[in-house]
Amino acid sequence: MYKLAMASIKPSHHFFFVVVLAIFLLSPPVLSDVEEDHLLQGLNSFRTSVNLPLFSKNKNAHCAAEQIADDLEDQPCSNSNNETRLSDHPNATSKCDIDPNTTSDAIVLPVCVPDLVPTLVLTNFTRTHFSKYMNDSSFTGIGVSSQDDWMVVVLAPNTPSGSLANGAWSWVHAKVGLGHYLVLSLLGLVLCLMQ
Ligand SMILES: *[C@@H]1O[C@H](CO)[C@@H](O)[C@H](O)[C@H]1NC(C)=O
Ligand SMILES: *[C@@H]1O[C@H](CO)[C@@H](O)[C@H](O)[C@H]1NC(C)=O
Ligand SMILES: *[C@@H]1O[C@H](CO)[C@@H](O)[C@H](O)[C@H]1NC(C)=O
Ligand SMILES: *[C@@H]1O[C@H](CO)[C@@H](O)[C@H](O)[C@H]1NC(C)=O
Ligand SMILES: *[C@@H]1O[C@H](CO)[C@@H](O)[C@H](O)[C@H]1NC(C)=O
Repeated sequence: MYKLAMASIKPSHHFFFVVVLAIFLLSPPVLSDVEEDHLLQGLNSFRTSVNLPLFSKNKNAHCAAEQIADDLEDQPCSNSNNETRLSDHPNATSKCDIDPNTTSDAIVLPVCVPDLVPTLVLTNFTRTHFSKYMNDSSFTGIGVSSQDDWMVVVLAPNTPSGSLANGAWSWVHAKVGLGHYLVLSLLGLVLCLMQ
């Protein structure tokens, strides 16, 4: 049945499918990352200005920042937080399958700015007491996530106590993720065949 269907695809359809699949696989999962990317660029300009290596995106730091931003979402800006350690956010780290033993030196910096006005968000990280973290060479990895008026930055040092290594469950989750891709790809194929 499957072979028959494949054989009957016209070359143009096949090409179309490959293009759709390529776009699907290459495109970022969300398109609303504009504010995060803007902030990351600003922070890395700051790093350049103080002669430090650029922050590099860390997948697990990003995941943790997302979870923490989700938790802050409903809080008013007046609840503005100070920095905390990632180990103070066990729910976020467990949702991201991060080994708790690798979180104690990672830092969480939450900022609340109405409407996340980009310049205000940036200066809140670079011109307040948070700037000492931006100006710290021991932090190399970064995760940035926003939710409502909140922007959360998670900084990870390049040390075992902050490496944000995945815990034992990560492989299972990775396989579930792959399964999703396969199902979606097959769905794409079916949709192409129906054309
Ligand atoms: C945040 O922590 C810094 C020291 O790390 C302290 O100087 C500052 O007063 C604290 N701010 C608030 C709002 O708690
Ligand atoms: C963490 O998760 C537990 C169980 O899901 C929940 O009861 C608790 O309120 C959460 N803690 C925070 C700080 O969100
Ligand atoms: C974390 O550290 C504790 C004690 O240092 C150890 O017992 C535990 O096995 C460690 N957990 C992982 C997932 O490595
Ligand atoms: C960030 O900036 C806003 C004003 O734009 C201010 O209200 C807030 O307290 C600042 N600091 C933090 C940590 O959010
Ligand atoms: C960054 O830190 C260095 C010392 O480590 C200090 O000399 C410099 O003034 C700091 N720059 C900023 C912008 O905080």
